[in-house]
Amino acid sequence: MSVVAVVGLGAMGSRIARRLLEGSHEVVVWNRTAEKAAPLVEAGAVAAATPAEAAARAEVVLTMVANPAALRDVTEGDEGVAAGLGEGTTVIEMSTVGPDAVHRLASVLEEGAGLLDAPVLGSRSEAESGTLTLFVGGPEELVERWAPLLSLLGSPLHVGPVGSGAAAKLVANTTLVGTIGLLGEALALAEGLGLSRAKAFEVLAATPLAAQAERRRESVESGEYPARFALYLARKDAELVVAAARKAGVDLRLTEAARTWLAESEDAGWGDRDYSAVLARILGSR
Ligand SMILES: NC(=O)c1ccc[n+]([C@@H]2O[C@H](COP(=O)([O-])OP(=O)(O)OC[C@H]3O[C@@H](n4cnc5c(N)ncnc54)[C@H](OP(=O)(O)O)[C@@H]3O)[C@@H](O)[C@H]2O)c1
Repeated sequence: MSVVAVVGLGAMGSRIARRLLEGSHEVVVWNRTAEKAAPLVEAGAVAAATPAEAAARAEVVLTMVANPAALRDVTEGDEGVAAGLGEGTTVIEMSTVGPDAVHRLASVLEEGAGLLDAPVLGSRSEAESGTLTLFVGGPEELVERWAPLLSLLGSPLHVGPVGSGAAAKLVANTTLVGTIGLLGEALALAEGLGLSRAKAFEVLAATPLAAQAERRRESVESGEYPARFALYLARKDAELVVAAARKAGVDLRLTEAARTWLAESEDAGWGDRDYSAVLARILGSR
């Protein structure tokens, strides 16, 4: 068993830390809002005062924070992860931040420290049950070394060198952003053309959006969108996708349009709701 530091104890990081504790690892935790560490300390984790201290105590450091700015805040500077790393310690970056942020992190780590990027697909319940998909970028030997740890969290898929995991995650989330926007527009069109909501769902059941429509039906009908993946994070992902595509010279006009629905919803104050609440926004915009 390893000594694992978890930096960032939001919806995902807190669940990952708990799962590691249940897997008999020694877990050191740090979170910007320190109170969020309390339930994990009660369950056996040790709280560190800074990300650097968490890193200094661990063999492997998992970072799971909101966005690229947060990743810089927890990894750089006197109190950041990079300042505390011992020789041979590995950093596994799990947030959704895009390849540029991962390359920047690689540039601030001392030689001798290992780095994998391993952002995840799946949400709170998958983090709890260890059934996430992890897109892993980094050298083969490091992936092999940490495969048992990653497998406790889900199914690792090694996609290439450092930064590839982050790239793969943007590809995956392009489908989330696009699908939810398209579903909202299909439902809005059905309403605009006078079809009942029930008939609209029957129609969608016969289309390529069948599974997504079925999954969201209860929320659309009840107006309740239980929080799993915050809308502010989905908007951030859409921005990352669009920026990465522009830089790579790839035309993503559909995703760009889907991004605007999320941006509008967040600007209206819906950032802390589940991202699927964008359906209510699209339907309500008629
Ligand atoms: N939720 C999901 O379903 C899901 C699924 C796959 C991937 N992800 C990705 O996983 C990452 C974490 O998501 P989450 O759902 O756990 O988000 P969350 O619940 O909103 O938590 C965000 C975490 O980032 C920390 N943070 C934000 N800004 C910071 C800063 N400037 N300095 C230090 N810490 C900062 C927060 O600290 P405080 O507690 O102090 O605010 C908190 O620990 C994101 O990149 C997200 O896109 C999420």
